[in-house]
Amino acid sequence: MRLVLLGAPGSGKGTQAQRLRDDKGTPQVSSGDLLRDAVARGTDLGKRAKAAMDAGELVSDEIVLGLIRERLGRPDAAQGFILDGYPRNVAQAGALDALLAELGQPIDAVVLMDVDSKVLFRRLTGRRSCPTCSKVFNVYSSPSPLGDRCDNHPGDEAPLLVQRADDKDDVIANRLKVYQTQTQPLVDHYRARGLLKVVNADQPVEKVYAEFLRAAGE
Ligand code: AP5
Repeated sequence: MRLVLLGAPGSGKGTQAQRLRDDKGTPQVSSGDLLRDAVARGTDLGKRAKAAMDAGELVSDEIVLGLIRERLGRPDAAQGFILDGYPRNVAQAGALDALLAELGQPIDAVVLMDVDSKVLFRRLTGRRSCPTCSKVFNVYSSPSPLGDRCDNHPGDEAPLLVQRADDKDDVIANRLKVYQTQTQPLVDHYRARGLLKVVNADQPVEKVYAEFLRAAGE
């Protein structure tokens, strides 16, 4: 299965990709996670990406393509992958086509996580995640049973959950604007190619997952 997940910030791309990964073993390839990892490690690339991420702007196509190319070249991606957050504009979609043609791995489907924009702000301001395993929680809709600590580390000390640096009101507003202007055109782009499947992502996580599996052909 080779999937692209499309959707606004907070639409649930990461949540559903992690479910599918845990359920079927398909690797989640998240451009945001790859970038945050590069920033946290202080790599040259991370330093170049940080200002754009802090402002909620897109990082340059060339930096992100380099990360995606390296990640899709790893052995675990040879049997399939879920691209979460890539591509993000029409130029990236073209670069992805070229890369996947080179790898002999065309996309099977593009799944759009469709959510009314009114719910996105609350989802994003309520999001907390584990700095160790990346598990995603929400203080309103899916809090950790351990309060401000991750429940995914039996036997070890439970890490404190963190809030993402770009989940602040002003940055969220810009991310939503960037989505509308730069990423939303990909919906028509992939629909025209007959690859688009739409999932109603404005319902409980389990129901979204059931629809997501159907859309992914599972
Ligand atoms: P990225 O990390 O990709 O962030 P994003 O697209 O803004 O998406 P999010 O991770 O915020 O949301 P999500 O859809 O994964 O939602 P989640 O499942 O967490 O990008 C961050 C930055 O990196 C960008 O701004 C840019 O600077 C850069 N970047 C990344 N990719 C790039 C690229 N290709 N090119 C250039 N720059 C790039 O859910 C959100 C919350 O809602 C959680 O708390 C969750 O628990 C909750 N939730 C999920 N589903 C439901 C539900 N069904 N009901 C109720 N709550 C729910």
